[in-house]
Amino acid sequence: MFRKTYYLHSYGCQMNIADSGILSAAMEKAGYSPVADPAGAGVIILNTCSVREKAEERALGRLSELVKYKRGKETYVCAIGCMAQRMGQDLADKIPGVDFILGTEQLFDLPTLLDRRNGAPVVETAMGVDLEWAEFPPEPDNPYAAFVTITRGCNNYCAYCIVPYLRGPERHRKPEAIIKDINHLTGKGVLDITLVGQNVNSYQHEAATFPKLIKKVIDETGVERIRFITSHPKDLSYELIDLFATEPRLMGHLHLPLQSGSDLILEKMFRRYTAAHFGQLVDKLRQARPGIALTTDLIVGFPGESEDDYKMTLDAVKEVRFDAAFMFRYSVRSGTWAAKNLVDDIPEEQKLKRLQNLIDLQKEISFEVNQKEVGRVSKVLVDGTSRRDEQVWKGKTGGNKTVLLESDQDLLGQIVPVRILRADSWTLHGEVAS
Ligand code: SAH
Ligand code: SF4
Ligand code: F3S
Repeated sequence: MFRKTYYLHSYGCQMNIADSGILSAAMEKAGYSPVADPAGAGVIILNTCSVREKAEERALGRLSELVKYKRGKETYVCAIGCMAQRMGQDLADKIPGVDFILGTEQLFDLPTLLDRRNGAPVVETAMGVDLEWAEFPPEPDNPYAAFVTITRGCNNYCAYCIVPYLRGPERHRKPEAIIKDINHLTGKGVLDITLVGQNVNSYQHEAATFPKLIKKVIDETGVERIRFITSHPKDLSYELIDLFATEPRLMGHLHLPLQSGSDLILEKMFRRYTAAHFGQLVDKLRQARPGIALTTDLIVGFPGESEDDYKMTLDAVKEVRFDAAFMFRYSVRSGTWAAKNLVDDIPEEQKLKRLQNLIDLQKEISFEVNQKEVGRVSKVLVDGTSRRDEQVWKGKTGGNKTVLLESDQDLLGQIVPVRILRADSWTLHGEVAS
């Protein structure tokens, strides 16, 4: 018998987590209940990522495992999102047993398509659909912190990046629909909202720019903590930076991807800012909100990256002293400008060496930066327990840092003052401050 239950797992960025939240709401509206284990689920869904080759390898590996849970015709395995968009029918050929392959703009149709299932694999990857995402106020991924999509797609076409090809052109949601989603989520107990887009700074709906949208969210919703991701440095306005000075509900964290410290490489990447401009933005941000946590993305081994270019990335990292960074080695994505026009000329071994050096440097910096938190009292939203020890609470600071704390009290879902007692590179450890 077909069970109306679904298992849904997401890889990739916050956009995927937000999409999964909308799909969950749509599935539940159609009568499916969520289950935490793929064994026994009627519908098994994997939301996939294609941003780097490794991300695809991981998704393909997991999908091959998930098809093993099929029980005859009573289980449907669905690959949705970016990798489904990129591979389409090839994915069905590569992994027999996948029943639904739905791209980034078709995935919300899954509940309807399931009703019409007839056994043959369904592949839907058309783009340019006019999406009405607001139709399903999302289910939060975490009961206390959730993502709300404000823009979809990307117009930047950075030379290395496949996202614009998989997510289509930028489209901005109506401010009213965004407010409605946030109110829906806060009504369910969510305290921390992250506004999501590939480049939130270019948000524009009629007269509403991104800073105006944030003001509106502050004025028209009761959400306690507001964040956003991702900001493109070329579009980060001073008006937006000023909000960090004036709006305490805007959390003190900004993810600002630098990608490279070399102007030559930035130009080849089509990033459209210089390392110096990035430095100015950092200064302004730190003036507006002293102690703001800054995180970034960095790529090593982009075509033509010389030792000198690479050193400029190391220098920029030393200069800015990011709180944390996501660091990657360049991965050729077919169809991108770089894949078509540039030779992937940095040997894999060299890329790995550069990446490891950079990771070591950033780890040291993160450790040092985090020591400054020791002795301070931070407000922490407790959203679960430590993966290693269920007796230890886990939460996030305003700066988005993970804090582990021991307490006999039930702190789940509360924002509590926590004195930081010690810190390592990735985690802070503290106790409830009296
Ligand atoms: N929209 C966001 C991030 C998108 S992808 C932004 O503009 O910053 C997340 C990160 O993956 C990027 O910031 C980049 O550092 C990395 N990335 C994207 N394509 C890549 C590729 N082909 N090889 C290596 N890293 C890549
Ligand atoms: Fe990719 Fe650049 Fe768009 Fe970010 S801004 S999604 S890195 S093309
Ligand atoms: Fe991956 Fe798609 Fe996000 S490629 S990073 S899941 S937009």
